[in-house]
Amino acid sequence: MNLSMKDKILQHFLQSKGEPISGQQLADELGISRTAIWKHLQTLQEEGYKFITIKKKGYQLVAAPDRVDAAKISSFLKTKRFGYSIHYFEEIDSTQTYAQKLARQGAEDGTVIIAEEQTGGKGRMQRIWHSAKGKGIWMTVIIRPNILPHQAPQLTLVAAVSVVMAMKSLYQNFTPEIKWPNDILINGKKCAGILTEMLAEMDRVDGLLIGIGINTNHELDDFPEDIQSIATSIAIEEKKKVDRAELVAEILKNLEHFTDEYVENGFTSIKTLWEEHSGTIGKRIKASTIRETIEGQAIGITDEGVLEILLDDGQVKKVYSADIEIQN
Ligand code: BTN
Repeated sequence: MNLSMKDKILQHFLQSKGEPISGQQLADELGISRTAIWKHLQTLQEEGYKFITIKKKGYQLVAAPDRVDAAKISSFLKTKRFGYSIHYFEEIDSTQTYAQKLARQGAEDGTVIIAEEQTGGKGRMQRIWHSAKGKGIWMTVIIRPNILPHQAPQLTLVAAVSVVMAMKSLYQNFTPEIKWPNDILINGKKCAGILTEMLAEMDRVDGLLIGIGINTNHELDDFPEDIQSIATSIAIEEKKKVDRAELVAEILKNLEHFTDEYVENGFTSIKTLWEEHSGTIGKRIKASTIRETIEGQAIGITDEGVLEILLDDGQVKKVYSADIEIQN
């Protein structure tokens, strides 16, 4: 884990779950002086953390700002390798663009780039992705599975399954559904999107950049007016604010697990999970591709993640890229 000394100290406090920690004990464990500990606590206070001193016991963390920084995420982390390198930004143009640079420089499997705010967030099909400050999860995970380029679309379905299952395990008041290919909807409104990019040569995948955007603690007013009728957030649906760092850690756990499962045992179980959590399969849909608009019943996905639509005349049509409208 590439934590700074300040973040290591913070991690101790986050993991102590509100119990006081003695300055001497911290100094001994981290191999620095008590004065150095005190200086790091001052810096943390300036960042919004609040500590009180308890006589004979040490320092107690009593308030923490709502952030998705490395120390906060790692206090929830239950992975073998994902999330051990976290690059955190208060503000960035796009975590996806930064991830491209890091991946080219050889960043390890499971490296995370995460920001409080994106000023140039990218969606699929060159769309803008609104990434309001401190409200959502705006992150890219660099993964390096040993796969061939034609298998990459299957990994994007792994990502959707990982996000939807993380939401299901943490929240009770709503049921998220995957809309093909990779949108997560709650009650018909978009809550999250996934953008996957690939670094590859003809016969080898160097890395995949799994960009995940989740509207997490938005109130309706936090969305631009033009998307207020089609967007939602976890807080709106769950009816309370949630801990973004906890959700990040849960997604990383699933992403690591399902990527490993895919590499070891193939696509079958992922495809089944994707279909089980899909709100598209079995529904009548309208698919707008660059060339045409097709209406019919979505009957399944192929092993390449391609959507199959049964047309009214009995033909089955494959759709590789389209905007989907669910009609019933
Ligand atoms: C979509 O539904 O169109 C995909 C949206 C993906 C947004 C995420 S936010 C983190 C990462 N950085 C970006 O610029 N985009 C992705």
